[in-house]
Amino acid sequence: MPSPLIAPSLLSADLTNLAASLDAVRGADYLHFDVMDGRFVPNLTFGPALVQAVKRCSDLPVDAHLMVDDPDGTVDWYIDAGADIVSVHVEAARHLDRLVHHIQDRGCKAGVVLNPATPVEVLEDIVDAVDLVVLMSVNPGFGGQKFIENTYAKLDRLARMLDAHDARPIVEVDGGVTRCNARELAARGVRMYVAGSAVFGAADPAAEVEAIRAAAGQVR
Ligand code: DX5
Ligand code: ZN
Repeated sequence: MPSPLIAPSLLSADLTNLAASLDAVRGADYLHFDVMDGRFVPNLTFGPALVQAVKRCSDLPVDAHLMVDDPDGTVDWYIDAGADIVSVHVEAARHLDRLVHHIQDRGCKAGVVLNPATPVEVLEDIVDAVDLVVLMSVNPGFGGQKFIENTYAKLDRLARMLDAHDARPIVEVDGGVTRCNARELAARGVRMYVAGSAVFGAADPAAEVEAIRAAAGQVR
């Protein structure tokens, strides 16, 4: 298994001192950026202006997670703002194949995200094209929720599908990820770990990034 990728979620960062929050996690691999439109999910967060601001004070690549009703119409805002990965929900995209290729044609990695109740089998006809598969391990909309245990079974089914296709997208898990479940996730093929409250709620966010990385790295 290649080295784990840790992506702290800015949703749980102290936005009154964004520069300090970003500095605290400079040892991470990506910054996870939760875009919520108040429609696809019952919460409203950041837009492209904040991606631009983040790119000015951090060298880390941005992993943009679009929890919006109209990803087809809005992905370009985040690509133009400097996102490196753009992930869209299969439940929201109208023309997923076109959208994935559009994101890639514009020079970004394209991810597809599944809500907890969306079966992995819906990916059967797109999995060969994507750079990332993201499984939500909480219902999207808020940080600090409890990890949904059924995610493990979904990861096992996803691994079998990827093997059958000989496809090797990055598998990312988002929601309720901690140093305690990272090893179990790694054993099921997870490469990329989104952690919001676990990292920014810790006394030492930098050390928490490394604790999650170490736990995930126990599986090789
Ligand atoms: C939830 C977001 C997550 C969230 C994770 O809708 O997509 O990225 O920030 O937060 P934690 O790690 O606290 O569950
Ligand atoms: Zn997210």
